[in-house]
Amino acid sequence: MIKPLVAGNWKMNGLKAASSELTQLIQNCPDTESPESPDIMICPPATLVAGFAELAASSPVIIGAQDCHIHEKGAHTGDISAEMFADAGARAIIVGHSERRADHGESNELVKTKALAAHRSGLAAIVCIGETEDQRNAGKTLAVVEEQLTGSLPDEISDETVIVAYEPVWAIGTGRTPTVEDVAEVHGVLREQLINRFGAETGNAIRLLYGGSVKPENARELMSIANVDGALVGGASLKAGDLLGIVSAYSPG
Ligand code: 13P
Repeated sequence: MIKPLVAGNWKMNGLKAASSELTQLIQNCPDTESPESPDIMICPPATLVAGFAELAASSPVIIGAQDCHIHEKGAHTGDISAEMFADAGARAIIVGHSERRADHGESNELVKTKALAAHRSGLAAIVCIGETEDQRNAGKTLAVVEEQLTGSLPDEISDETVIVAYEPVWAIGTGRTPTVEDVAEVHGVLREQLINRFGAETGNAIRLLYGGSVKPENARELMSIANVDGALVGGASLKAGDLLGIVSAYSPG
């Protein structure tokens, strides 16, 4: 059985005062040790990673980061390396988010190199893929996500070092979500692809997150879909109460 993960992607949101949300999350999160309850992660903006990691140090909440440079160090003004995030206390890095792909023209090849940079520094990579609305309307969803998965994942991975997040671009921040059938179809195809490429043991153990307008109200339905092993949450991760509402989708009842 895969241990689920509920990860919050804060994107470019959060000042120091937002640490009160993390404190609230830490104080109210369920025991993540039990196999049914999900791991909980917050990926704040880079400025907050070290402070959050310190605050969450003896708690079940894991701190991650958003994006990294491909190199360890050097003359790259404004960039941050995976090693720097590891040093700051992060345990994972989101790479290939559709906002990076769109805003910064990131290719699958670059995303793959960033995943390798995360691995080089001992961090897991949360590799994001997902189709645009035009691609979905053109019936290309499966072809697009398969190509992104193939191109964005390095060959050398394990279920510890890679997490895949399927985030339909049109569902991000819009309040719209795909149907249960659509999510099941995409996640089923991604699972098959992971098994074909990395073998049954690894392919079946890699966590496949769904992301795009996940809220407390729809989390239970989305998280119960086959091959959905958790959520990557944007807007609803900014408030501890909302994220805890999503986490509680995993509690019985
Ligand atoms: P929303 O949950 O705000 O739709 O964002 C999803 C996302 O992009 C997480 O990476």
